[in-house]
Amino acid sequence: MNNIKKTTHIRSNFQNVPFWNPTKIFDHEIGKNIHRMDLNECPYPPSERVVKAIQEAARDLNRYPDGTCPSLTPMIAKDLNIPEDTITWGGGSTQLLTAIAEISVAPNQNIVAPKLVWKRFQGVYKIVDANVTHVENNSDGSINVGSMLSAINSDTKLVICVTPNNPTGLMLSETEMKKLCEETPDDVLLFIDEAYYEFAIHAGGPDVLKILKNRRGPWVVTRTFSKAYALAGIRLGYVICSSNEIVNAIRMVSSTFNLNGMAEAAAIAAWEEPEYSKFILDRNAEEREKVVNGLKALGYNPIESVTNFVSCDIKRPASEVVTKMRERGIRISTVGGGEFENFIRLSMGLPEDTEAFLDAIKEILE
Ligand SMILES: Cc1ncc(COP(=O)(O)O)c(C=O)c1O
Repeated sequence: MNNIKKTTHIRSNFQNVPFWNPTKIFDHEIGKNIHRMDLNECPYPPSERVVKAIQEAARDLNRYPDGTCPSLTPMIAKDLNIPEDTITWGGGSTQLLTAIAEISVAPNQNIVAPKLVWKRFQGVYKIVDANVTHVENNSDGSINVGSMLSAINSDTKLVICVTPNNPTGLMLSETEMKKLCEETPDDVLLFIDEAYYEFAIHAGGPDVLKILKNRRGPWVVTRTFSKAYALAGIRLGYVICSSNEIVNAIRMVSSTFNLNGMAEAAAIAAWEEPEYSKFILDRNAEEREKVVNGLKALGYNPIESVTNFVSCDIKRPASEVVTKMRERGIRISTVGGGEFENFIRLSMGLPEDTEAFLDAIKEILE
């Protein structure tokens, strides 16, 4: 906006920043049966068991919950074979992304990250006022580990890698992950965002945590209950860190008053019910196959995602197609500017969402 005067009461990196709100529901969408295929949500509701746990936890909402998740943490630590004091919690893993950058990067210090990466990271860079090296992705959209490593310099404090990455849905191979872990210098924090971890494992991906455990230098990996556990609305994510020192630094930024009083109970119930996650992951793979095949049948070449979303070059500006889809009640999203401006991204839904998407995209693109 041109008429905003120069302000002095907030730091310069926060002045005139655009507000990115992908969760906005438009007025014409309220109360309508909208196909929500833009936020990489799980289309299935939490299981009955999880809903019951939430209802029971609601009785204690007059109290502050223990933000260290004292019952859930040992369960996860045991299953992942990691010390309990190397896990901490965020109001969604989104909150942890910022905390990780804040504890490691001072203004004007360097972050190395892929150019094509989840849009929220642009906000994280602004918050810490970092000098970011945006590393070109390979031409297929995948992360170029060699270029990431070459971009690291003596000012670099944080290396960010998302696997599987959003918006491509592509994951690093075991060899690439090992290279990244071994060759990122020992004085640089290596941050792996694994929001789509369960999808990667379902697709036969590498055990990133196991590789990280062998890294000499510091590392953190974030995961979430939002996707494969159908709990985006409960806002619970976690970070596993190479040391308790990092855990406590993150807690300093995020505080332990950051979680809601139902999150831990919901997550325990979900963690104890892996068959429901498996159901979600199996159904997701089926819908993804239908979407990929449907786009191929129309002559397009979608990226071979392992996640709950698919991106595709539709050979014309994606923003126009996204608008037309939204007018038809189907929410999908763009991928980015530059060489990706012709790419759409859609999240997997129920079979009826897939059908509605394929019918509409056919009509629009033809
Ligand atoms: C790569 C990536 N990281 C993190 C998140 C945030 O997940 P949450 O804050 O729900 O844990 C998302 C959400 O879409 C994502 O795509």
